[in-house]
Amino acid sequence: EEGLHPTKYPWEHAKWNKTFDHQALRRGFQVYQEVCASCHSLSRVPYRALVGVTHTVDEAKAMAEANEYDSEPNDEGEIEKRPGKLSDYLPRPYKNDEAARAGNNGALPPDLSLMAKARHGGIDYIFNLLTGYPDEVPAGAVVPEGLNFNPYFPGTGIAMARVLYNELVEYEDGTPASTSQMAKDVTEFLNWSAEPEMDQRKKMGVKVITITLALFALSVWVKRYKWAAVK
Ligand code: HEM
Repeated sequence: EEGLHPTKYPWEHAKWNKTFDHQALRRGFQVYQEVCASCHSLSRVPYRALVGVTHTVDEAKAMAEANEYDSEPNDEGEIEKRPGKLSDYLPRPYKNDEAARAGNNGALPPDLSLMAKARHGGIDYIFNLLTGYPDEVPAGAVVPEGLNFNPYFPGTGIAMARVLYNELVEYEDGTPASTSQMAKDVTEFLNWSAEPEMDQRKKMGVKVITITLALFALSVWVKRYKWAAVK
């Protein structure tokens, strides 16, 4: 059964000649970190990937160091704890899928790294899902025990409850943290995690188009110049 078709939004960063809004990405990371990361991993993103995207190198280092990772085994084969480094990946909230299910009524919170590409509807789906929990379950809807009603989720019964509420986080840039603002920011951030090369690709595209147009204009001028005497 399909969910309600997500509303399409005119995402600024999705336009062919626009890049990500990096202030939005930074806010979106904050939402991921403070809200989603307690259940969802982002296993394809190392701290170094955040450098120059959402954070400075010193900030990213400090965030990595705030976590503990297993060291390489020493000469005695013992594994110790060491602080994180830029090359480490963001930590997972659970040791394994079994623990993740145990913490979520049997449901598995999927890794979010590629979520923006994984579901039909892409970023519109994620935004609609996060903001689409109605205050009251509509009359006639059947919601199985332990699930939550969300019309955008295929089947409408989802193990994830509504997580975003106004003022849940406090943005350092002063942006009011409404439910929809946080949903927009974290969705844009998840678009980046699924497509970190997007800015680069579009900048290259604009260059290619500019140079091609310039060369074409030049060729028109040369043709006219060469044929001027004949006409
Ligand atoms: C599923 C996003 C926070 C638990 C999902 C899905 C997305 C998502 C996109 C996939 C839905 C699908 O399969 O189509 C987010 C975001 C969060 C967040 C962006 C933060 C803003 C949380 C939190 C928890 C949680 C805090 C746990 C308390 C789950 C679970 C599922 C899920 C258990 C699986 C649902 C099911 O298959 O029924 N989430 N989530 N999520 N999420 Fe979250």
